[in-house]
Amino acid sequence: MAKWKVFVTRRLPSPGLELVAEECDASVYEGDRPIPREELLRRVRGVEGLLPLLTEAIDAELMEAAGPQLRVIANYAVGFNNIDVAEATRRGILVTNTPGVLTETTADLAWALLMATARRLVEADAYMRAGKYAGWSPTLFLGPDVYGKTLGIVGFGRIGEAMARRARGFGMTVLYHDVRRRSEAEEQQLGVVFREMDDLLAEADFVTLHVDLNERTHHLIGRPQLERMKPSAILINAARGPVVDEAALVEALRTGQIAGAGLDVFEREPEMAPGLADLPNTVLVPHIASGSLETRAKMAEIAATNLLEALRGHRPPNLVNP
Ligand code: DGY
Repeated sequence: MAKWKVFVTRRLPSPGLELVAEECDASVYEGDRPIPREELLRRVRGVEGLLPLLTEAIDAELMEAAGPQLRVIANYAVGFNNIDVAEATRRGILVTNTPGVLTETTADLAWALLMATARRLVEADAYMRAGKYAGWSPTLFLGPDVYGKTLGIVGFGRIGEAMARRARGFGMTVLYHDVRRRSEAEEQQLGVVFREMDDLLAEADFVTLHVDLNERTHHLIGRPQLERMKPSAILINAARGPVVDEAALVEALRTGQIAGAGLDVFEREPEMAPGLADLPNTVLVPHIASGSLETRAKMAEIAATNLLEALRGHRPPNLVNP
C-alpha cells in the first residue's frame, strides 16, 4: 500500500519521527534553524500531512502551495497562532496541537524566571564568574521576597492553574484574571481570587502571563498597563511575545516604572527589542518553557499520533478546528 506523503519541518526528539516513518513517506528538514520560507513552500507540494513547528507560518499561501490533498497539520506546540485555522477549516484541513503534556514543564520555567528575576540570579552568576566576589556583604544583589507576596496570573487555563499551585507553597496571595471567571467553589478549591485586569495589575507583586495569542491578547500589556503596575513589580512572560508591547516594556524597565522582567518569549522572535538585552533587571531565555527532555519527547509522540490518526481517517485526539 502506498504510504502517505508527509513533511516534517525539523528533526524531533524520539519517538516522533520513528512513529511517522512507520506509516508515511516522510521527508524531514535537516537544518537546525527554522526552514526558509521558499524551501518550505517548495517541500510541502503534494503532501497529505504536515508536521510544523511554531516557527512556521502556516497560512493560505502555504496551504495553496501544498495542494488540495493536504489533510492534516499537526503542530508541534500547544499554541497554534502560527496557523490560520479558519483558512484550514475552510479547506477541510484538520489542525491539531499538543496540549496538557507541557503544562507543568512550562509552569516550572515560568516559576524559575520569577525566582531568578526576583533574586537576581543571572546578575549574581555573572558577578561570580567575573571573579568580582570579595566576601559576604549585607547589600549584595538584594531583591524582593517571593514568599508571602501577591501573584497576579493573567490567563487562567491549565498553565495558569499550575502557577497557582506552585504559589501555594510560597504562601502567596493569588489573584487571577481570565475572560472566563471560575465558579466560587473552584476559586476556593484553587485558593485564587478573581480580579479585573486593572486591579490585578495594581495589586500584584508579580504578574505572570499565560494567555493564548489572538487579536484580543495582542499587546495586552502595553504602556497603560505597565503604568498601572507597582514600581516594585516584576513581569513574567512565558506565553507569547506579542502579548507584550516590547518597546513599552523596555521603556518601563529603563525608567523604573516596573522593577524587572523574566521573559521566555519575544515580540519578534528570534529578535529582541532594542535595549532589552542591555537592561540588568531582566532575565531572558530563548523560548524554552516546554524544553524538558521528557516533555519535548512526549510532544513529538503526540504530534505524530495526531498526524497519523488524521491520515487514517480517524478524529485526531487534539483537534483544534472549531
Ligand atoms: C508551545 O507549545 O506553544 C510552546 O510555546 C513551545 O512548546
